[in-house]
Order: sequence, then C-alpha cells, then structure tokens
Amino acid sequence: MRSCWVLFFLLLGMGALFPVEAEVYTSIHDLTAVFALERQVVTALTNYLGDMEAKITRIRRYLQEYEQVLAEGPATEEVVVERLAGNPVHAFHLMKRITVDWKHIENQAKTDYWRGVVEAMRGVGMGAMGVHLPKDEDLQGAAQALVRLHDVYNLNMTQLVRGNVWGVESAAEMSAQDCLYMGKHSFNLGMYPRAIQWFEEAYILAGLEANVTV
Ligand SMILES: *[C@@H]1O[C@H](CO)[C@@H](O)[C@H](O)[C@H]1NC(C)=O
Repeated sequence: MRSCWVLFFLLLGMGALFPVEAEVYTSIHDLTAVFALERQVVTALTNYLGDMEAKITRIRRYLQEYEQVLAEGPATEEVVVERLAGNPVHAFHLMKRITVDWKHIENQAKTDYWRGVVEAMRGVGMGAMGVHLPKDEDLQGAAQALVRLHDVYNLNMTQLVRGNVWGVESAAEMSAQDCLYMGKHSFNLGMYPRAIQWFEEAYILAGLEANVTV
C-alpha cells in the first residue's frame, strides 16, 4: 500500500499526462480517507480546546472573585475577616465560592475531551480499518515528487513556495523549514544545484519569517 502513496506523488510529479492507473485511484482513495480522518481529529481538537478554554475561564473567574475582598486594599488576615463579616455580599460570595464554585471546578476535571482526540486519531467510529495512514516513507516520497516536479518543469521557485503551482494561485505556501527539507531531499537525490536553490529559498524565507514574528 505504501508504494501507492509514492506512485501517486510520483505520477503527480511527472504530470497528469498518464492515464489514471488503478494504483493511483487507490491512493486518491487513501488521500480522501486520510483527509476525512483528519477532519474528525480537527473536530475533536476543537472540542478539546473549547472545553479547556471554558475550564480556564472558570478558574480565572473564581480567582478574580476571590481577589475582590483583597482588592479593597492590602490587609492583614484579621482585617480581611472583618471585611467579610461586615459585608453581607462578601460573606455571600465566600459561601458561594465554597459551595458552588468548588464543586464545578472539581467536576470539570472529570470531563475529558482528550479521549475524543485520541479516538479520532485512531479512527474510532469511521471504520478506520480501511484507512491507510501515510508513514515517514510516504512523506519522503511526497517530498521527492515535489523536488522532481520542480526540477522537471523548471518551476519558478519564488512562485512555487508562495503557493503558485502551474500559474494557479493557492494557499499552499511553503515555510523555510519546508524548503530546508526539500533541499535535503534534492541533495540526497544528487540534484545539487537544485538543493542549493532550495537552501537559498529557505534562507530568504527564514528572513521574512523572522520579520513577521518581530
Ligand atoms: C519568478 O517569479 C517572480 C515573481 O513572480 C519573478 O519576479 C521572477 O522574475 C521569476 N523568475 C524567473 C526566473 O522567471
């Protein structure tokens, strides 16, 4: 099955001139299945993130309410107790924090969306038995297809890394790290001048990326 990925990317790399072979179809099928699986993982991660944010918000709100009493100015423990005793709202809030908020905070530790993420990654609930997940070799195959594609068609590097493939604009931009990876693969394939081009592009992109983060 692994060779399917490689073949798919290689054919992609050599152009769509070839008639679609059965193996290629299988790989497109794999690609579709993997993409569907990823979407499940993204949904699970979104749920997880929402849950975490809700938990953090609750804890933060609790800490802020606790700070209310102290917000009236620095005080010794005695003074704080006096404030609590002398202000029915403070006293009410104290009771509420202990009886209601603690319970919520204690209970929120019990809900765990992480399990959903792990299950989604394992393909639980979508018959993942048929999903052939790409492996490191497949990633390398995809990289090799890309560097060969760039080499064979002499694609414009500047345009390629900015998402323009065959004159079509896309959001598929490449990072400096991606270019380093491509450079390494070009080198391993003995494509030395191309490797240098990729490394140079990585250097340019690294400069741009640094400017963005500053
Ligand atoms: C590659 O594309 C860039 C941006 O469109 C352009 O400035 C540059 O001249 C092109 N390089 C070649 C060799 O065509």
